[in-house]
Amino acid sequence: MKLTVVGAGSTYTPELIDGLARLRDTLPVTELVLTDPATDRLELIGALSRRILARQGHPGTVTTTADLDAAVDGADAVLLQLRVGGQAARQQDETWPLDCGCVGQETTGAGGLAKALRTVPVVLDIAERVRRANPDAWIIDFTNPVGIVTRALLRAGHKALGLCNVAIGLQRKFAALLGTDPADIHLDHVGLNHLTWETAVRTGGEDVLPGLLSTHGDTIAADLRLPRPLLDRLGVVPSYYLRYFYAHDEVVREMRTKPSRAAEVAGMERRLLALYADPALDEKPDLLSQRGGAYYSEAAVDLAAALLRGAGSRHQVVNTLNNGTLPFLPDDAVIEVQAAVGPKGATPLPVASVDPLFSGLMASVTTYEDLALEAALHGGRDRVFRALLAHPLIGQYEYADRLTDELIAHNREHLTWA
Ligand code: G6P
Ligand code: MN
Repeated sequence: MKLTVVGAGSTYTPELIDGLARLRDTLPVTELVLTDPATDRLELIGALSRRILARQGHPGTVTTTADLDAAVDGADAVLLQLRVGGQAARQQDETWPLDCGCVGQETTGAGGLAKALRTVPVVLDIAERVRRANPDAWIIDFTNPVGIVTRALLRAGHKALGLCNVAIGLQRKFAALLGTDPADIHLDHVGLNHLTWETAVRTGGEDVLPGLLSTHGDTIAADLRLPRPLLDRLGVVPSYYLRYFYAHDEVVREMRTKPSRAAEVAGMERRLLALYADPALDEKPDLLSQRGGAYYSEAAVDLAAALLRGAGSRHQVVNTLNNGTLPFLPDDAVIEVQAAVGPKGATPLPVASVDPLFSGLMASVTTYEDLALEAALHGGRDRVFRALLAHPLIGQYEYADRLTDELIAHNREHLTWA
């Protein structure tokens, strides 16, 4: 079984390799190919990956190449985890929206749109090359913004699913609070990528969410950095990305007074790369756990195992076509829900009726995502403006106009039409 990782120069890659090594019975990878245009980082991470596999007695081979076509040739699955423009572009996304009093974030709001515009054409080009090399290969997309990127892939007819670690992170968190095995916890997880709510937490068929909230509501609220009474009023657990909506102005005030997440991550990356260069290091360092991507390897291995060999968990949270699952959204919207996953792909499980408090926001962000994809595919100032005006965190024409200009000015080198 051959697995290719695109964007493997990411400092996150050792997390993935660690998961592949630990979970090798679920996903027996024989050939792992790492590709990235940044060859220095790729070689460093390739060497560490070999050491991690060797330490755990994993028999798979690790190859590195900057040649994308060679990398995807014959791959059974291709994992996309790239970041066009690197942390420097992220730093921009997190900064200029603040001038308009809007959240500066890599996937939410105007920064997320900038990322989508830079990323969608690159990902579509890669996906075409994957399809040419092997039309049967599965594309697993971790590349943000996952909702918009997955929608682009599916609209172009690719064999793709989008993946995020928010659901698996909450499943692990709730399991720890309840003192149960994560495998025994099923979340009713509903929404769009980075815009989700846990509406039930089931163990053995019973919904334990009300008890979880009454016993551990303070801990959960503190983690989300939202007030406990708000959680009680919602009656569900929102993902931490909902804080950008429910406490937008508070977040903007904080962001104006402290270094950006991009700057923090850039500092961590420098330290991580120094650690990775040590030939004695043969496991993922603890420092990596301070990144947001905890458990992403587990989610990736589980999904690849289900798609490639009908193994892994039968039900998994993925990003896929709505197709009537949420009746208030168009069929071609990409939603993030529990799905039955197997070699034929993912079929969303039925979702109980959704409170209008949540479905309304999902609908408006879906409209934004649709307009964002139009802007990413066809370019043009007006399309960017329309997406920003439609975004529920922007909405006013003066801001949408200013943010459009800022977005274009900061991303010119990545936008062929600008
Ligand atoms: C979570 C999100 C990812 C995002 C990451 C950012 O894992 O689900 O989509 O990329 O956080 O983490 P970072 O450490 O880069 O801020
Ligand atoms: Mn995510």
